[in-house]
Amino acid sequence: MKVDVLLGLQWGDEGKGKVVDVLTPGYDVITRFQGGPNAGHTLEFENQKYVLRSIPSGIFQGGKVNIIGNGVVLDPALFKQEVEGLEASGHNLKERLFISKKAHLILPTHRLLDAAYESAKGSSKIGTTGKGIGPTYTDKISRNGLRVGDLLCNFEAKYKAAIDRHKEILSHYDFKYDLEQIEKDWMAGVEKLKEFQFIDSEHVVNGYLAADKKVLAEGAQGTMLDIDFGSYPFVTSSNTICAGACTGLGVSPRNIGDVFGIFKAYCTRVGSGPFPTELFDEVGEKLCDLGHEFGSVTGRRRRCGWIDLVALKYAVMINGVNKLIMMKSDVLDGFEKIKACVAYKINGEETDEFPFDINEGVEPVYVELPGWKTDMTKMQSENEFPEEFNSYLDFLEDYLEVPIKIVSVGPDRAQTIVRYKDFE
Ligand code: GDP
Ligand code: IMO
Ligand code: MG
Repeated sequence: MKVDVLLGLQWGDEGKGKVVDVLTPGYDVITRFQGGPNAGHTLEFENQKYVLRSIPSGIFQGGKVNIIGNGVVLDPALFKQEVEGLEASGHNLKERLFISKKAHLILPTHRLLDAAYESAKGSSKIGTTGKGIGPTYTDKISRNGLRVGDLLCNFEAKYKAAIDRHKEILSHYDFKYDLEQIEKDWMAGVEKLKEFQFIDSEHVVNGYLAADKKVLAEGAQGTMLDIDFGSYPFVTSSNTICAGACTGLGVSPRNIGDVFGIFKAYCTRVGSGPFPTELFDEVGEKLCDLGHEFGSVTGRRRRCGWIDLVALKYAVMINGVNKLIMMKSDVLDGFEKIKACVAYKINGEETDEFPFDINEGVEPVYVELPGWKTDMTKMQSENEFPEEFNSYLDFLEDYLEVPIKIVSVGPDRAQTIVRYKDFE
């Protein structure tokens, strides 16, 4: 069997958590392969809402193995909070959650460095989630990081050396901090983490594939936040794209199966950085209000705009998406007209090729389509779709040249419609 990958095609928060949960019954193993607690993946079912940050979204469907892969960066203190929250609502994770020994640890000082770097950037700050993601990946790449497996061997000395190094860096910044309490929470997190099994996840995952088990890799963030292909420098610090699943799990590109690309029927972004189709008018406000566009973890208001097909097509190409999933269709239910950006005008010239830099001078070129003005939230099958909605889907499929296999019409697990009878 191969690893199927599900990933965001925009700037994150596309609804990955919800869909991974919906697809989980068809899989044996669910894995995270990059990112960390900068993610906030929301799931809703049986009138309950959960937000997952480091734990894969397959955790609620019984009998499945969930793995935090080597490409993930893990903060023990936040992990403890997440686990305890789930345990308090009756979910026992120990039997079904496993952690790669090679996953890197977010140290307390990584969070402080994140804050210090952001504050030093002033008005050009990235608007990070403040979880220490960038500094942790920086240490990984510069070969200074600590990994989950290090907790098992001579950890104290390695920890002290890392913290001392970070303190020295922090001393160059005009940044006040109090390490004591966060260190205490962090150490308590380490004890919690140690209750879980640390595994050689690359062997385990490849073992499952050899045994014909089905594995789903759950992306975090989105393609436009990818460190290489996103809107640099306003990106996260990992490869959020499909290739990240190979390095973040230790699977060969030959073992990648379906690539599910997930997008909202419009577009959002949280944090700083360019966003060509952003709306600053009442339409943007309406999208934000109807879509409840506030960060799952930080509560930050998400910037909203029309769908950007230039960026989406680029994301489809980079990831080799063969199945699309459209989320939050219901948010557009009340709109008279819907716009889709089909090209960028740069220096007076139109292009549908995503350029090197979208930081300045990119003007979106729109096509206007009729809205469907129908409440879709209770629909159960594609046979109920209004004509204008089908035209919107056809339009997107024609442009992106990939079929839209799933449509989501509300946040609940049950508000998910699989299209085409031949879907497997
Ligand atoms: P993720 O990070 O990609 O998992 O997405 P988030 O959980 O951060 O954000 C998606 C938000 O949209 C969450 O609040 C979901 O509950 C919600 N959501 C998901 N699908 C739909 C949908 O089809 N319609 C509506 N209205 N909300 C949705
Ligand atoms: P999920 O998985 C939306 C954004 C931050 C910031 C930039 C860098 O829920 O879709 P970081 O803390 O990673 O260094 O921040 O990336 N960002 C996200 N935006 N959804 C996410 O995750 C994000 N994770 C990071 O807002 O602009
Ligand atoms: Mg999110």
